[in-house]
Amino acid sequence: MLAAEALGGLALEAGGFYVDATFGRGGHTALILQALGREGRLLALDRDPAAIAAGQRRFADEVRLTLLHASFADLATLVPPNSHQRPCRGVLFDLGVSSPQLDDPARGFSFRADGPLDMRMDPTRGEPVADWLARASVDEIRQVIATFGEERFARRVAQAIDAARRERPLTRTAELAALAARAVRTREPGKHPATRTFQALRMFINDELGQLERGLTGALEVLSPGGRLAVISFHSLEDRAVKRFMQRESQVDPALRGLPVVPAAARPRLKLIGRKQRPSAAELARNPRARSALLRVAERLP
Ligand SMILES: C[S@@+](CC[C@H](N)C(=O)[O-])C[C@H]1O[C@@H](n2cnc3c(N)ncnc32)[C@H](O)[C@@H]1O
Repeated sequence: MLAAEALGGLALEAGGFYVDATFGRGGHTALILQALGREGRLLALDRDPAAIAAGQRRFADEVRLTLLHASFADLATLVPPNSHQRPCRGVLFDLGVSSPQLDDPARGFSFRADGPLDMRMDPTRGEPVADWLARASVDEIRQVIATFGEERFARRVAQAIDAARRERPLTRTAELAALAARAVRTREPGKHPATRTFQALRMFINDELGQLERGLTGALEVLSPGGRLAVISFHSLEDRAVKRFMQRESQVDPALRGLPVVPAAARPRLKLIGRKQRPSAAELARNPRARSALLRVAERLP
C-alpha cells in the first residue's frame, strides 16, 4: 500500500541501513532490498511470529536482511545491536493488520468468517479479546468501543455483549459480529456494522496507539541526521497520532519559543517533507482496503 510513495519518501541510498518496522509479508521489504546495493542493510520487525516465519522462508538467501520477531515499541533498544554500527537512514511504519492476519479466521480479526475471538497480533503474549470481554465491566467495554472505534452506538454494543455473556461466554467472532450488527442502528455505506467494534477491540487488545507513540519516539532516537521517517496509517485515529507527533517534533518547544537562544534540547528534531499522500486511483481500484491509507514523511534534523 502506498509502496512507491513510501519508498520515495525514504529517499533510499544504496549503501544505507534501514528499518522496516512492520514486515507483514515483506512487500515493502522486497522493494527496499531491490533498491539497496550490496552494502545496504535492512532490519525488519514484526510482532507476529507467523509473519517472521514466512519471511524467513521467503528471504532465506538474503544476507542483507535481519528479521526479528519484536515490537517496534522497542525500536530504540533493538536497532543499535542490529545496525552493525551504521547510521540509520530511514524507518518505515506500515500500520495496522496485514491481509494474511485478516484473512485467517483462526486469528480472530475477521467479522466476515467465524473464528476464535482472539485478535492478538502476537499470540505468544497478552490476552485474547474473549478473555478481556469476560472480565471487563460494561462501562470499560463501552469506553473502549467509543474511544477506539468512534462508535456512536458503543453503549448499545456494550450492553448487548453483557447480555450475551450472561447466557454463556462470548468466544466466537461470528457471535460478536452478529450482536454488534443488531446493536448498531445506522448503516455506513460499504461498511459492515461491526467494523467499528472490531477495530476498537483490536486496537485496545494490542495497545496499538501506545505502541505507535513508543515506536515513533524510538525512531527519532535511532535515525541519523538527514534520515527519513515514513509512516503509513490506516485510519483516522492512527493518522491523528502520527500527525500530532510529527507536528510537535517539527516545532520549537512552545514553552521556550520566546528565549533569545533556544536550548538544543528544545529545538525541533524533525522537518516535515511534503504533504500527506493518499493512494492513487489506480491503487484504489486494485485494492479497495487502501481507501483510508495515508502516508506522512519527515526528516531527522541534526
Ligand atoms: C499492514 S501490515 C504490513 C504489510 C507490509 N508492509 C508488507 O508489505 O507486507 C502491518 C504489520 O505490522 C505488524 N505490526 C503491527 N504492530 C506492530 C508492532 N507494534 N510491532 C511490530 N509489528 C507490528 C503486524 O503484525 C502486521 O504484520
